[in-house]
Amino acid sequence: MSTAVPAPAPSGTAAAGPALEVRDLTVRYGRPVRFGGTAKTSPAVDGVSFDIAPGETLGLVGESGSGKSTIGKAILGLQPASAGQVLLHGSDITRASLRQRRVTAIDLRVVFQDPYSSLNPAQTIGKTLTEPLRVLRVPKDQHRPRAAEALAAVGLPADAIDRYPAQFSGGQRQRIAIARALVCDPQVIVLDEPVSSLDVSTQAQVLNLLADLRDARGLALLFIAHDLGVVRFLAQRAVVLYRGQVMESGPIEEVTQRPGHPYTIALTAAAPVPQPAEQARRRAAREALGIGTAGATPTAAGGCPFATRCPLVTDVCRTERVPLTPAVDSATSGAGWVVACHHAGQAAGMRPAAGVSGNRSLSDFLSLFLWR
Ligand SMILES: Nc1ncnc2c1ncn2[C@@H]1O[C@H](COP(=O)(O)OP(=O)(O)O)[C@@H](O)[C@H]1O
Ligand code: SF4
Ligand SMILES: [Mg+2]
Repeated sequence: MSTAVPAPAPSGTAAAGPALEVRDLTVRYGRPVRFGGTAKTSPAVDGVSFDIAPGETLGLVGESGSGKSTIGKAILGLQPASAGQVLLHGSDITRASLRQRRVTAIDLRVVFQDPYSSLNPAQTIGKTLTEPLRVLRVPKDQHRPRAAEALAAVGLPADAIDRYPAQFSGGQRQRIAIARALVCDPQVIVLDEPVSSLDVSTQAQVLNLLADLRDARGLALLFIAHDLGVVRFLAQRAVVLYRGQVMESGPIEEVTQRPGHPYTIALTAAAPVPQPAEQARRRAAREALGIGTAGATPTAAGGCPFATRCPLVTDVCRTERVPLTPAVDSATSGAGWVVACHHAGQAAGMRPAAGVSGNRSLSDFLSLFLWR
């Protein structure tokens, strides 16, 4: 079970409740398998807790397969939770019926990764944008004005409303997907890798747009990404996930600049570097060592899920699951900064010199062992 990571109260206002809360969420897929004589499934998400305040962005980060999208789906009611709760403005929506979901869908919207497959090529943008309004039974005379308003909010021209997805670039399509989320005037948006398929300059434009919309509308954003550098751009806090469990969580500056968990250190080391030759050198060295991907590495049966890849592993790591506890430096900074590591003190000594974007000589070494 993980420790809840509380959202800070917005400054200058009375403490408002979180817009979204996830409490001890566990999600299991598929049929039960046998582990040690007891029938149970291996969870894709295992006791994850966090919350997001209005106007705040929480970054959910981890490698492919770590459970990020599953958390998003459970929040949206697209995948049943096996245990735990999802609360929207304090109301439990974990097991909401389709009818109840229709109401919460006004407040809770989603933007998916792929701007090509998420838009119906046979529908005009206007039809795509007004579809949620029709489902939510918004009076018809409001449909077109609200679609036009949403397009303007994402910086697209008014005539986009009568055009088709094929007439737009990837970045413009992702703006359309954001407009489709905005058209209901939501308070919470789940963004599942919304810029991962875009080129770097388009990524920056879309991230800037999201930051502006969040600030102007007080949106609570759950920003899912595999790249800590991208998360750092938008999020105030981050939750680092590995094999469905929270490894580290806290203010974005702490998690990216002074990571306290070996896995977060590996992620910071593995953030893309701008020099192609350096990137190629790292990849070649990793491949020469024959280090498997996260998915190919067997999981420890108990204990820390990172034990099979961690250079600091000891016997206790293999047998005892680690609770989230305050990071070693959390007394001096970073309220709500927690780490799940038996040897967090040692891990802190292995940090890269300057986090995500700085000199990473020691973490270069680590990345040989840890990155795909
Ligand atoms: N529909 C599904 N059925 C069975 N297993 C799934 C399904 N979707 C995802 N998984 C598994 O759950 C784990 C987490 O997946 P996912 O949430 O998609 O991770 P991420 O978004 O971090 O890449 C992975 O091991 C994945 O194989
Ligand atoms: S608990 Fe042990 S195996 Fe897990 S990250 Fe910490 S040192 Fe590594
Ligand atoms: Mg995913």
